[in-house]
This record gives sequence, C-alpha cells and structure tokens, in this order.
Amino acid sequence: MSRIARDLGTVTGNELIRELLEDEAGIDGLCQHLYFLTGISLPPIAKNRHLVVSRLSSVLRKQRLTSLRAYLKMLKMRPPEDPLSSEFISALTTNTTQFFREPAHFDFLSGVLPDYLAAKSGGYGPDAQELRVWCAAASTGQEPFSMLILVQNELQRQAALRRAWRLKFLASDIDEAVLERASRGIYSAHETQGLSDDVRERFFLPAIDPVTGGEGAVRIHPELLSKIAFARINLVSMPYPFQHPFDIVFLRNVLIYFDPNTVARIIEQMAHVIRPGGLLFLGHSESGCMKSPHFKPLAHAVYQRVG
Ligand SMILES: C[S@@+](CC[C@H](N)C(=O)[O-])C[C@H]1O[C@@H](n2cnc3c(N)ncnc32)[C@H](O)[C@@H]1O
Repeated sequence: MSRIARDLGTVTGNELIRELLEDEAGIDGLCQHLYFLTGISLPPIAKNRHLVVSRLSSVLRKQRLTSLRAYLKMLKMRPPEDPLSSEFISALTTNTTQFFREPAHFDFLSGVLPDYLAAKSGGYGPDAQELRVWCAAASTGQEPFSMLILVQNELQRQAALRRAWRLKFLASDIDEAVLERASRGIYSAHETQGLSDDVRERFFLPAIDPVTGGEGAVRIHPELLSKIAFARINLVSMPYPFQHPFDIVFLRNVLIYFDPNTVARIIEQMAHVIRPGGLLFLGHSESGCMKSPHFKPLAHAVYQRVG
C-alpha cells in the first residue's frame, strides 16, 4: 500500500505529487475526460502530466481521495454540471487575463467603432440601435469590462448616440468559479495597476479586497456591471444557444487549448453567430487558427464576417 493510501493526512504536497505522477494511466484517463468535457487537449507528455497532477493534488486531498483512478471513476459517474465536475474543470483551466490585454485590439476597436455604429444606426429593423457583444472566454471579467469601458467611452464622446444605443454584453466561460468572480466585478490594486486615473475615476468605486481584507481594491460601477450578462457556455457544445447575431465577438487566448479539428468547428460556429460585417477577435498568438472562408482579416488576429 502506498504512503498516500495509508496516511493522506500527513503526506506533504510534494510527496503526494511524486506518488500521483507514477500513475500515468490514471493521469491520461483524466486528460481524456477533460477533453470530453471541455475540448481542452493535453497530449500525454511529461510536462502535461506534471501540470495535471500539480493542479489536482489539492482537489484529491480535499475529496479525501488517494488515487487518480478513484477520482476519475467518481467524475465519470457525475454529469458535466455536477459541482465535482465543475471543480475538476476549474482546476485544469488556465484563466490568465488582464484589463486591456493585447492593447492593439482595443486601439483597433476604438478606431473602427465610430464608423461601425454610424453604419449600423443608418439601418432598419430591431437591431439597428443595438450593439451585441460576446466575450466567449471571459475568465475573471477583465476582458469584457475593458470592452464595455471602451464602448461606453465612445458613446459618451458622442452624446447623441449614447441615448439611442442599447448595449447587450454577454460574458461567458466554462469555468463557473471565474465567472462568479467576474460577476462580482471586484479587483485588487495589483489587477488594476495599468488602468489610467481617468478610467478608475469614471468606471470604478473603492472596495475592500475580498482576499486580503485590505484597502486599494476597486469594484466596477454598478451601472456598468448591470450591462453585462454572465453565463456558463462551453465552446465545444454546439450549436451555440443564440437567437440574434453578435456585432463583436472576443474569442481570445482560448483556441490555443484545443486541437485543430475543435478550433475549426468553433470558428465555423462563430460564422453562424456573428452578423455579416461583424468582427471576430482572436488572441495575438492565435491568428494561425483562422482558415475559414467566412472571415476576412482586417488587422492582426481581427476578422470581419463576410457575406
Ligand atoms: C487564458 S484565459 C483567456 C481570458 C481572456 N479571453 C483573455 O484573453 O485575457 C482562457 C479561458 O478560456 C476558458 N475556457 C477553456 N475551455 C473552454 C471551453 N470549452 N468553453 C468556454 N471557455 C473555455 C477558461 O476557463 C479560461 O477562463
């Protein structure tokens, strides 16, 4: 019997990781289950096995489990929306993000937005004065709030437009824990350090840091927060559940986790949910993912839906 099985209570984190790493079949089974649930592809190489074990060891400890196979068996018996599956997904997703990340995209958007709004407001029909924006891998929310701040800035610059436009923002992710954080809209001083004083003053209020209890944190102004809907959407569950097409979709820094076949299917779906003339943004390192005839490039990793 292994030391973990005997004595989970006293085994150190590093000892636990070392023992779990020996069970390669168990790790590979968990990677296959992750692929099944999320489309995230972790080929069976040493680096990935280490990543999986180091991220899951605390989950195993919390669940009082002594083997990866026992954990996999439990996961397979639960539906994808079960809290145990959510915890598994949350442990293995990478949620790195920041306000105005990859700023060239925000510069591009603020450059084209006035003409886009002007063209759209000249149209007819129910969506003529409506801007529909989807942030499809929103993580802890900095990306959708950055987009909303940018759009609000533009609408405030053109006061006449401001009254007329309805903003429909959707922020989604597969990881419920990050979505929950996003929906609170509270960020530490560290997370907001790149923001200008002007943006801080207009769009944020002071807050207590929920982790440290210290000062210096901020929260998104409630009026801004109320403009975003948050939802758990799995990008590999198709078709996507929308009745009306989007004007702008940010799908950044998530395709890198999928295999080429999954990437192609997701981009094909994007063609169904973005209106002709609408914009799709991929991460800066993901421009190689775009092979669809439904999109034409406008700038680096920025595409326009054609047709
Ligand atoms: C690295 S973050 C990118 C955050 C943000 N888009 C950015 O560029 O700053 C990747 C996000 O994709 C989410 N994700 C991974 N697989 C997903 C899936 N199948 N469906 C929806 N979101 C997924 C993760 O939970 C994570 O929050």
